[in-house]
Amino acid sequence: MAVLLDGNRIASEIRSELVLEVAELVKKGVRPGLAAILVGDDPASKVYVASKTKTCEALGIYSETHHLSAFTTASELLELIARLNDSEEIDGILVQMPLPPQINADEILQAVSPQKDVDGFHPENVGRLALKQPRFIPCTPAGIMELLKRSGIAVSEKRAVVLGRSRIVGLPLSLLLLHANATVTICHSRTPALADICRQADLLVAAIGKPAFVTEELIKPGAVVIDVGINRLSDRQQVMKFFADDDRRLDGFDKRGFTLIGDVDPRGVAAASAYTPVPGGVGPLTIAMLMKNTVLSAQRRIKDKYSLLAST
Ligand code: GUN
Repeated sequence: MAVLLDGNRIASEIRSELVLEVAELVKKGVRPGLAAILVGDDPASKVYVASKTKTCEALGIYSETHHLSAFTTASELLELIARLNDSEEIDGILVQMPLPPQINADEILQAVSPQKDVDGFHPENVGRLALKQPRFIPCTPAGIMELLKRSGIAVSEKRAVVLGRSRIVGLPLSLLLLHANATVTICHSRTPALADICRQADLLVAAIGKPAFVTEELIKPGAVVIDVGINRLSDRQQVMKFFADDDRRLDGFDKRGFTLIGDVDPRGVAAASAYTPVPGGVGPLTIAMLMKNTVLSAQRRIKDKYSLLAST
């Protein structure tokens, strides 16, 4: 029987640890602070940012959300980032992706202070991660490594296959797996014989944003399967195809008009040794790790403050 890796349980464990760390910081006079910037009205982005704000509140982290119109210019956005870079109250700055087409995301990500870049997207932080000298590890890859560790799944000496080479997940996760001594192959849209490569994986990670792309034939029996995809299914026939036996799922679909499915076909994971469900697998870990990075940034701020005092 494949073991379900419960991301909600592990995220809740991490949050309980963070509550104590936040209290410790507050005692020392520093409340961690996170600023989220949302440009435009992408519904999924709105849900993510709202969820981040709610988690901050639950942990005692100060948060502010800057919701800008879809017609915001790059210079307006840069001005806001400069203000947040200088703010004493803010330890972490998050610019929700994707940005509208008139804005060059690279230019914006470079403007965020590397010391406050809790997403780990600044080129300096990407470079540091590549060299195994991380400052902030991007939240979803960090969450996957934490989930594996806390589930007792070793990575060293394993053959890992990562589907997807995005800057947010595939690329940084491949580096982390490599640093953890896995033998890593990255597959993408131009990879020939992709199915053959997947079938060799002891650890298979799907991060390509294609609903149910990974079918049973791509999974080696006994493999660990990590599903990073969060895709909406709104066609009833499709929902029936994947979830015909799942009454709770069908009820949810009837109420909301959609259900979520990952990049892995849920009917295909029976032969895996362990897998992450969608929802409730990798997703909850992403926000927990964002909180962890924000707390880490505040801890560094207090350390800097004390070392500055000691040297004066
Ligand atoms: N969009 C999708 N995932 C992420 C993430 O981890 N951080 C940000 N800023 N935007 C995203």
